[in-house]
Amino acid sequence: MSRSIPFLELAPMHADLADELKSKFAKLLEKGLFSGGEEVDTLEKTMREYLNVPHAIPCANGTDALELALRALEIGPGDEVIVPALTWVSTAEVVSMVGAKVVFCDVDGHGLMDLLQLPGLMTARTRAIIPVHLYGKMVDMERLLKLTVNTGIHVIEDAAQAFGAFQKGRSAGAFGAIGCFSFYPTKNLGALGETGLLSTHDPSLAERLRLLSNHGQPRRDTHEVIGRNSRIDTLQAAFLNVKFSYFTVWQQKRKALAKVYLDHLQHLKRMTVPSGILQEEHNAHLFTVQTEQRDALKAYFAERGIGTAVHYPLPVPSTEAFEVNKKFPVASRLSNLTLSLPLHPYLHEDDVRRVCEEVQRFFSIR
Ligand SMILES: Cc1ncc(COP(=O)(O)O)c(C=O)c1O
Repeated sequence: MSRSIPFLELAPMHADLADELKSKFAKLLEKGLFSGGEEVDTLEKTMREYLNVPHAIPCANGTDALELALRALEIGPGDEVIVPALTWVSTAEVVSMVGAKVVFCDVDGHGLMDLLQLPGLMTARTRAIIPVHLYGKMVDMERLLKLTVNTGIHVIEDAAQAFGAFQKGRSAGAFGAIGCFSFYPTKNLGALGETGLLSTHDPSLAERLRLLSNHGQPRRDTHEVIGRNSRIDTLQAAFLNVKFSYFTVWQQKRKALAKVYLDHLQHLKRMTVPSGILQEEHNAHLFTVQTEQRDALKAYFAERGIGTAVHYPLPVPSTEAFEVNKKFPVASRLSNLTLSLPLHPYLHEDDVRRVCEEVQRFFSIR
């Protein structure tokens, strides 16, 4: 029996980094410092430099980042916000949480917001558009920004899956008014818990985001606006500082493994491989294929101990929480076709080859 291949394995990565992570924990435990401090300042500086933005503001998680972005732009009841129909639920959830109306846009064949449909969805009430760089593949930001020029509509990038992706040298999250990132443990750069980040070029937005995420306080016990607590834990900042020093190497590994997949699978007629995954505008977060036989392939893998995942089994407007009557044919179709194969920096090349062999065997007997 061959060894099983989980969809994602974080334990070997953390075993490698255990000494460094434990030493950070020990130091902070000794100091008794769990909020703010040097580790948070270091993370901010690192992120400013890496994303090449003047303001990088850590927060509690990626969902909060999106909600804080909407609040900083004073979006609320009476406003409309356009989001793609295929995404993680957060993108739409936050719009409802601030009291605005969610307007869903269907996606293109890659699962990205269909920019051809955007103009038809923009109304006098549209205050923002939230493109999602799904699976780590970036939306064409130049094209999107052209559509919003002189409209007063803000672009908030949901870059939760796209840390490490760049378009013409500019980072995901650095195009719109505000960029939102998640460092959830399964992301390419993942904390050991929940964390997120906001990026912006605009100093007044940066100031507002900081205020909103810290009870409206420019300093202790001064509350200038009504805010909340969405601060990052110092421990998570410290862990991210450790992990960031390996990020470039991990990205190279992801790309190398994605190439092995492509070499073996791109010629298959009954399966589509992710386009552009080796390019800079894709961070190789997920290796998501499309096939009419998705469910059978998923079951075939499961019988052989190979983990896969579906991103996502339902378009957000079809979930019970949203239940929108309108049809989103491409998003619906993709939710039946897509399957994400194992891809992470600690995956062995031999395991990728085995997954590829199983795919080939699966199609050869059907
Ligand atoms: C596209 C997208 N948006 C938003 C989020 C929310 O991030 P978090 O889980 O850190 O709240 C995620 C995380 O899975 C995501 O994939």
